Amino acid sequence: MMLLECFMFGAIIFLMTGAQCEDIEIFANEGSVAVLPCTHKPWSSFPPAIIWSKVNKGTVWRKERSGLQYWGASWSQKGSQGSRIQCPHSQYEKGAYNLEISQVTEEDGGFYSCRLEFGAQFTESLVYLRIIKVTVSPPVPIWGRDVSVTCNVSPWPHGASVQWILNNSPFVPQTEIFANTDEAKSVVKEKATAKLSGNWTCVVSFKGKEARASATVSVKGIIQPSDDNTKVYAAVGSAVTLPCVFSNDLAPSSAVWEKLKPGSHFNPAPGRLPPSFSPSLSYSQYPWDRSGSLMEVRLEDEGRYRCSGIVEEQKLTRTMQLIVARIDRNMSKKQGSVTLKCQLSDTSDITDYEWLRVTYDLNGTKSVESIQKGKTLTISGVSEENQGEWLCLFYGKEGILGNVTHHVQLMSGLSGRKSSGSSHNTAAVVGLSFLLLVLLMILAQMYKNHQRRKRIFQYPALETIVHTISNEREERERTRVKK
Ligand SMILES: *[C@@H]1O[C@H](CO)[C@@H](O)[C@H](O)[C@H]1NC(C)=O
Ligand SMILES: *[C@@H]1O[C@H](CO)[C@@H](O)[C@H](O)[C@H]1NC(C)=O
Ligand SMILES: *[C@@H]1O[C@H](CO)[C@@H](O)[C@H](O)[C@H]1NC(C)=O
Ligand SMILES: *[C@@H]1O[C@H](CO)[C@@H](O)[C@H](O)[C@H]1NC(C)=O
Repeated sequence: MMLLECFMFGAIIFLMTGAQCEDIEIFANEGSVAVLPCTHKPWSSFPPAIIWSKVNKGTVWRKERSGLQYWGASWSQKGSQGSRIQCPHSQYEKGAYNLEISQVTEEDGGFYSCRLEFGAQFTESLVYLRIIKVTVSPPVPIWGRDVSVTCNVSPWPHGASVQWILNNSPFVPQTEIFANTDEAKSVVKEKATAKLSGNWTCVVSFKGKEARASATVSVKGIIQPSDDNTKVYAAVGSAVTLPCVFSNDLAPSSAVWEKLKPGSHFNPAPGRLPPSFSPSLSYSQYPWDRSGSLMEVRLEDEGRYRCSGIVEEQKLTRTMQLIVARIDRNMSKKQGSVTLKCQLSDTSDITDYEWLRVTYDLNGTKSVESIQKGKTLTISGVSEENQGEWLCLFYGKEGILGNVTHHVQLMSGLSGRKSSGSSHNTAAVVGLSFLLLVLLMILAQMYKNHQRRKRIFQYPALETIVHTISNEREERERTRVKK
């Protein structure tokens, strides 16, 4: 009776654990410690015999009831590190006979069985261990070359879904996936750019479980500017740096700067560099910095530039566009105003302009005041108040792209008077012309008198009469002038 009961019990337990075992799926990251669970309610105070084996591969580790332990041939102690296998007996009391495998590799993936023998009875449970890792090929991707990031799960769980997370946001591969298998989805093939640098995590979902593995990708190449045709803005007469910075541990050979002739975008011909161009001098100290600079930008320096260098037998290039900003001044003598126009050699990225006024007080403290938005600014009259620095800021979608300054100076002909001063002007001119007129009249009168005298000589009697008349007329005219 007793015996039968025990047998029944054991069989039930076996069936229960047997039913459970198919569901035990364990994911472990390569190199980590995998814990394969095997639990059983304590049967008696004596620990059972424990046999951990890998299905079709033989015993991994076993422990007899006497306490003797055996390791499988491929699992025995190797070197000073000891065995990768452990089954900590501190957990036996709780009924846990978990197998711990440290430093797991892809080869460790597969079916494991845990057999517990309690005298004549035994239970057996199965654990499926899958090793997950992310691999990057080549390990150091070079800018512009192909790179593939693979989510490896060994053995592959058929029917699993794979998602990628790049730097904490979901990554959707741009490239077409040719094979429609699960494994194809686990590979991302892209042209290496800075955008692919960072922390790649693959998330594998399988039977309600989620496993993750991560790898860091660092694309080497020209990191600054990070894209071709990057726009660099500079004001006429200013100095500008054309950046060309390689990854910090690269020392490119045969670094070259060229100014590209305008025209064909795909096969540009190199032209002459501007006279004020000089390559970076710091590259003996920082071999990855191959930036160039223009000491004084001229209008004709605008256009496309290219820097290149050879890294691991591959020529890496970066093109950029120098956009020159200037202010055009147009003076209107009639209105006594000056129009300033903010001009750029390429306005495709410009969204707005803003004019600022820069003034300095007696202590030399600078203050900046925003005047208005828009490409053109009209200053009415050039007066002392308006002289100084006028600054045009130009904006793109991401904010300020650059600025260009214009100095307004006092000029003869337009100086010293505001438009409100013009009424004084007219008064002065009117007064002056009136005085001239009077002078002319007096002169004319004197001439007339002289002529008359010549004639009156012949008729002396008439002289006094005519003279009095003319004197009277003069008197009248004089009083009129006074009025
Ligand atoms: C990468 O991201 C995962 C989760 O997004 C995180 O657990 C892991 O620590 C990160 N690794 C590095 C090197 O930042
Ligand atoms: C200057 O302004 C006048 C009239 O406002 C215009 O006709 C002329 O084209 C302008 N010149 C320049 C160089 O902008
Ligand atoms: C110039 O500086 C002095 C002392 O620092 C200060 O008292 C004065 O107000 C300043 N003047 C102006 C115009 O800011
Ligand atoms: C104008 O540009 C120069 C250099 O390009 C910069 O140092 C300065 O801060 C800019 N001024 C403003 C007001 O943004």
